Amino acid sequence: MPPPDRPARTSPESKEERARWLRAEIRRHNRLYHEQDDPEIPDSEYDALYRELRELEEAHPDLVTSDSPTQSVGSRPGEAFAPVEHGARMLSLENVFDAEELEEFDRRLAGLLDEEAERQYSAEPKLDGVALSLLYERGRLVRAATRGDGRVGENVTHTARTIASVPDQLTGGDVPERIEVRGEVFMPLSGFEAYNRKAEQEGEKALVNPRNAAAGALRQKDPKEAARKSLDFFAHGVGRAVDVPAVAGQSELLEAMASWGLKVCPESASVTGASGCLAYYERIAARRESFDYALDGVVYKLERFDLRDQAGASSHAPRWAVAQKFPAEERLTTVRAIEYQVGRTGALTPVARLEPVFVGGATVSNATLHNYGELLRKDVRAGDTVVVRRAGDVIPEVVRSLPDRRQGDPPVPALPDNCPECSSEVVRPEDEAVARCTGGLICPAQRRQALMHFASRGAMDIEGLGEVLVGQLVDRGLAKNPADLYALSREQLNELERMADKSSENLLGAIEDSKSTTLARFLFSLGIRDVGRVTAASLARHFGSLEALRNADEEALQEVPDVGEVVAQRVSDFFRHGENLRVIAELRRHGVEWPDTEAAPAASAGPLRGKTLVLTGTLEGMTRDEARERIVGAGGRVTASVSKKTNYLVAGANAGSKRDKAEKLGVEIIGQAQLLDLLS
Ligand code: IVH
Repeated sequence: MPPPDRPARTSPESKEERARWLRAEIRRHNRLYHEQDDPEIPDSEYDALYRELRELEEAHPDLVTSDSPTQSVGSRPGEAFAPVEHGARMLSLENVFDAEELEEFDRRLAGLLDEEAERQYSAEPKLDGVALSLLYERGRLVRAATRGDGRVGENVTHTARTIASVPDQLTGGDVPERIEVRGEVFMPLSGFEAYNRKAEQEGEKALVNPRNAAAGALRQKDPKEAARKSLDFFAHGVGRAVDVPAVAGQSELLEAMASWGLKVCPESASVTGASGCLAYYERIAARRESFDYALDGVVYKLERFDLRDQAGASSHAPRWAVAQKFPAEERLTTVRAIEYQVGRTGALTPVARLEPVFVGGATVSNATLHNYGELLRKDVRAGDTVVVRRAGDVIPEVVRSLPDRRQGDPPVPALPDNCPECSSEVVRPEDEAVARCTGGLICPAQRRQALMHFASRGAMDIEGLGEVLVGQLVDRGLAKNPADLYALSREQLNELERMADKSSENLLGAIEDSKSTTLARFLFSLGIRDVGRVTAASLARHFGSLEALRNADEEALQEVPDVGEVVAQRVSDFFRHGENLRVIAELRRHGVEWPDTEAAPAASAGPLRGKTLVLTGTLEGMTRDEARERIVGAGGRVTASVSKKTNYLVAGANAGSKRDKAEKLGVEIIGQAQLLDLLS
């Protein structure tokens, strides 16, 4: 199609004419780009046209027409990833892990409803993909956005349009005036495997797992890259909607969405009560392997919308729905070799290098054996067939070895005498499971880990300072200790791989921002052995200033809650070490600062006053730090391990041994929803 006649820019062109021309021109480029895959102008020129139209319309609102490209499909890269405010919040889900917890969920829900009758649920697979919100106006797709923080997501219309099951136009007679369709984008497993086979043949990088692949594809700048991943989409709910044909519940909604041309998961079912939910779980779990998409559990949603309103929602999840997660997946594979990794405190962790195996949604080729003692206990040797477990984002581990399948009699792996990184002597005190490198900060591995710990979240929180950069800084001798980070120059950073002016500037900004911190974070960032976040916060609260802490003897240190003999000695040793004091002085000289606080009174006021809580597993939509801060803010204490003195164990997803211990000790176990209730 020829370009529309362009009004001569030299003649005094009316604003109306200019706006009309811009609208037509932008639409033409949209078609060339999206439908014919044959763009005529570079993105920058397109962006300039778009910007000009938007500015013209902002200055003269009477020029805005309902079909202006600024009012509807903003899907060129210029718009990509722009923040999008959701009409209704995109919430997360609470999890249950067994029948008992599900029954408790159902009972609690019953208490919130006026009706006595047994509850009807819509049961659906929980797809392990990426949440997406599609905004349709009069049936046309006008915007697609990721979940983001639930209120504001990212505009990914340009990549969502490449998904065959995301229709551009809804069909049928009763299409709503405006609707946010909520659902899950995923990469079918067959497509994932085919992609990786091809990538291997062509020497390209393989995808790690289908969920990352889907998330990465949506966030591609170039829609063609996204299209290569052959993504799929299942609709499973609605956000804000205007003029929707009367639907009373989830099953009717799913039917209506299917009639509009959206794809819904064919495995959904209507079930009654907790027993119906559990039977559904068993059915799906038994067929889990047969689906062409990754599932991490099932979701139960109260069927009737009027009852959902009665149940309401907490700040992050509805009270009318819950997910029941599958247990961690296990697979068999063989050990190619056993190698050692050196951690921040010099601990040598044996790592099994494996024949790659797809487990828990990812291809795993390394699994931890935790420490040398564990390696001996599990009797894992090179060549063995082993059971590997992986759940969520937890590090994969070797669960056990199958010695019956062992061929011959391979030797028990020996503990190396010298550190694989710095050749310093390795020691393993008698009766201790952990072996350590004695190199301290001359060992590059310990240096790297110490710097990464220093920069991590909850510590100094230097955004963008990850493993790759730290590795380069250490290898080039630019950072021997944390204080060196504050002396880095833009020129030095620019020379590192994958760094350019912009990224160097961002990193320098993040380093600068980190200077203003709290005593608790600073203490944690120093990496004193056995001083985790909780202990660091207790020390900061108790002593109020670094000077007071430094001058405390071991006896005074042991007055701090949770600090016993060992930790007191570690802290005192740390502050006796001249090199540590020098690094701290250097950090302060660079401007690292925190407000000194009054040593806190023993128990503050608040709904959790005097209560001790332990956190375990992954909390949804809330980091551990946030949970901890809120608990402490409410007067409670958070400790690392469960004891008889614990009042509550807060169990998130994949809670492990702490949960077992709490059960044994009769400690009350609560979920995130109950925690939020307690906090309010
Ligand atoms: S409903 C208000 N249904 O799981 C309820 N979510 O852990 C919102 N998910 O963010 C979710 N399959 O991305 C729902 N059948 C399903 C789902 C599902 C996967 C995801 C969704 C959500 C996350 C919560």
